[in-house]
Amino acid sequence: MHRSFVITTEEPNWWPIPPAEASCEAGGTEQESSAERANGWDRKPVALVRFADSAGLADWVASLLLRDRLLRPERPLGLATGRTMEPVYAALARQLNGLTPAERQELRMRWCSFNLDAYVGLDRADPRSFAAEMTSRLTTPLGLDPERVHLPDGQATADPHAAAECYAAQLAATGGIGLQLLGLGLNGHVGFNEPPCDADAPCRCVELSPATRHQNAEAFGGDPEDVPQQAITLGLREILAAERLLLVVTGASKAEVLARALQQPPTPELPASWIQLHPRALVVADGAAAALLDGGRNPPTAERAASAVAGPGHAAEPDLGARRDPGLRATSWPTR
Ligand code: GLP
Repeated sequence: MHRSFVITTEEPNWWPIPPAEASCEAGGTEQESSAERANGWDRKPVALVRFADSAGLADWVASLLLRDRLLRPERPLGLATGRTMEPVYAALARQLNGLTPAERQELRMRWCSFNLDAYVGLDRADPRSFAAEMTSRLTTPLGLDPERVHLPDGQATADPHAAAECYAAQLAATGGIGLQLLGLGLNGHVGFNEPPCDADAPCRCVELSPATRHQNAEAFGGDPEDVPQQAITLGLREILAAERLLLVVTGASKAEVLARALQQPPTPELPASWIQLHPRALVVADGAAAALLDGGRNPPTAERAASAVAGPGHAAEPDLGARRDPGLRATSWPTR
């Protein structure tokens, strides 16, 4: 079976980025093609950390985001919306309270984030818009300056293609994403990169698939017809150019697509599978979402207290209180 991942209980040692590497390995104004990445990079298999419970998972992911903002603020943080991320943002707001006033102030002053996507045709104030979601889940609870929380302009109905180009240029001017948070669509999309999607697809306006409009109908009263037909999304080009990828997957409904994304060779039919080409990709999943990996033969769930996310200069590290799954040992499985 094709495998391009390893299961680990710990943050991989290649995950933190030494300051010296900043801005020279990934991202930047020069965007490498997927082929260049596959051939020229010191590519590690995707690492997967499995959690026994989703509350512990959300805490751990939030701590990674917080640490990224405190230690690697040179590059913007890439953010995602969706139900998977709701507990993550709640945990982030809780953890902010564990910081010292000086750290909170620094975090707010240096915050810069770019969201993956936005529906076309929804006003920012529309509660169904991703902009409104970020305001209520992130900007307001964390006390952030809204100017530092960037999203594509979903109101640009006259020319959403130009709005996408403008968003891409705005991001490129920063040097590109540092840490990119990703959710997973049931059809394998990341952001709104619907299949089929090549690894070089740029930020653009896309037509949403019936499957995605169905998946996201809940926020629109349950009727897929009420879900906007178009969205602006960062492309796989910008996503794969990020320094690090953090894919978060929860729930049994995602088990099959996650297994395919990590165990099948990368393919346009499954946009999330392109993360296998990235040199620093970490997947965080709960037991239900990880259930079909390795043919469902991965070890049974058991819990233990998670160690705090380690690393130099982490005085602000929140006490995670998370519980990770120790049943999964760091396993060096073949990658191809
Ligand atoms: C949505 C969004 C993604 C999101 C993904 C998963 O359609 N475009 O940014 O991460 O699909 O959504 P959910 O977490 O609600 O399952």
